[in-house]
Amino acid sequence: MTGVGLKVRNLNKAFGGLVVARNITLDLAPGDRKALIGPNGAGKSTFTNLITGIIAPTSGEITLDGRDIRPMSESQRVKAGVAKTFQITTLFKALTVRENLRLPLLERRGWLGRLIRRADSYPEVEMEIDGLLKQFKLTHHAHTPVDRLAYGQQRLVEMAMTLALKPRILILDEPAAGVPSSESPLIMEAIAALPADLSVLIIEHDMNLVFKVAAKIIVLVAGAILMEGTPAEISADARVRDLYLGAHHD
Ligand SMILES: Nc1ncnc2c1ncn2[C@@H]1O[C@H](COP(=O)(O)OP(=O)(O)O)[C@@H](O)[C@H]1O
Ligand SMILES: [Mg+2]
Repeated sequence: MTGVGLKVRNLNKAFGGLVVARNITLDLAPGDRKALIGPNGAGKSTFTNLITGIIAPTSGEITLDGRDIRPMSESQRVKAGVAKTFQITTLFKALTVRENLRLPLLERRGWLGRLIRRADSYPEVEMEIDGLLKQFKLTHHAHTPVDRLAYGQQRLVEMAMTLALKPRILILDEPAAGVPSSESPLIMEAIAALPADLSVLIIEHDMNLVFKVAAKIIVLVAGAILMEGTPAEISADARVRDLYLGAHHD
């Protein structure tokens, strides 16, 4: 199987008798902005875990630029360009934004374990941090410990840290979860400002955000894709409306 980007073909996963991924086929090409939605228990997290390598499929194919990534470990997939947003700020909340951003940049270069030089003594790393701070409008917060930021800004730090790995495929796992609605425009702006050629898959419950940032929406129900379509196609579909609104219609 060849082609540019991530291709998932007939992916299946069962936990014992429970089928949680059912013949899932989807593409993420450079520049794609897709959202994966579906009720609780539909299999969204399972799907992302299959892509990032946390769990192995029962059957089916996953390729990146035509290359089978199934044998790769999680960290090998990150190096190949498949990354899911860090949920790492819980670990490093006492560190400043700048210190947090430094970690994935050093990790990407394989310099995290170097003890000979100070972690902040690599000019190219510090310049890349400056760029990320600017991109995510966090420059003024560079020296703020992460736990003193507004929650929405903490989510931006997670996004910036993930982007520091220079992924080609970015999975945003509920980027607006827990973010007060007053701060959700921050998240939307950050997603809109992601590199144009990056492939982005957003798992998110906030339909307002999904409809604003995704060009295509994939609806997952009981482990299977119910439909994939534009926001207009999705919102016009009676089955999707039933699922989300319990709406009755003729
Ligand atoms: N490790 C596991 N072992 C057994 N069942 C699991 C495991 N992980 C998830 N499941 C089940 O798989 C189904 C899909 O879960 P999940 O992918 O978390 O759904 P979602 O993220 O859409 O809410 C659920 O029924 C869940 O209980
Ligand atoms: Mg989930």
